[in-house]
Amino acid sequence: MLTAEEEKEINEEMRRYPNKQAVCIDAMLIVQRHRGWVSDEAIRDLAELLGMTTADLDGVATFYNLIRRKPVGRHVALICDSVSCWIMGCERVRDQLCTRLGTPLGGSTADGRFTLLPIVCLGACDRAPALMIDEDLHTNVDDQGLDTILEAYR
Ligand code: FES
Repeated sequence: MLTAEEEKEINEEMRRYPNKQAVCIDAMLIVQRHRGWVSDEAIRDLAELLGMTTADLDGVATFYNLIRRKPVGRHVALICDSVSCWIMGCERVRDQLCTRLGTPLGGSTADGRFTLLPIVCLGACDRAPALMIDEDLHTNVDDQGLDTILEAYR
């Protein structure tokens, strides 16, 4: 069941769109901001609210890579693996992150602190390698700076 706060935020977004279906990505992001991810139950509730089928809404959710359909850690680290970051050593950064946090890419730490996910270009190619944790973009990331970056996320 959607919370009153989630429904209020979704209804506010609806005013900016020509029809209810057009707000579906924002609606899922609102639920995700409150809960960390979008469950099957939330997809059902949102589909009903937006007048969509669950299959159509799930199709949007699985196409759009920033919608999380599984539980994640308190912080989500998105590691860019596109060409500029690859040239500038993102694989080394990725391996160091996995080693330091003790989880493979795609996994979460045992304490639920971090989930590590790959992502395509973050739009910071001139400052590669790039990494986004929650809403924060980190650029020119190197091994030495990783600990300082991670320390900020408890
Ligand atoms: S390739 Fe990584 S930010 Fe563009």
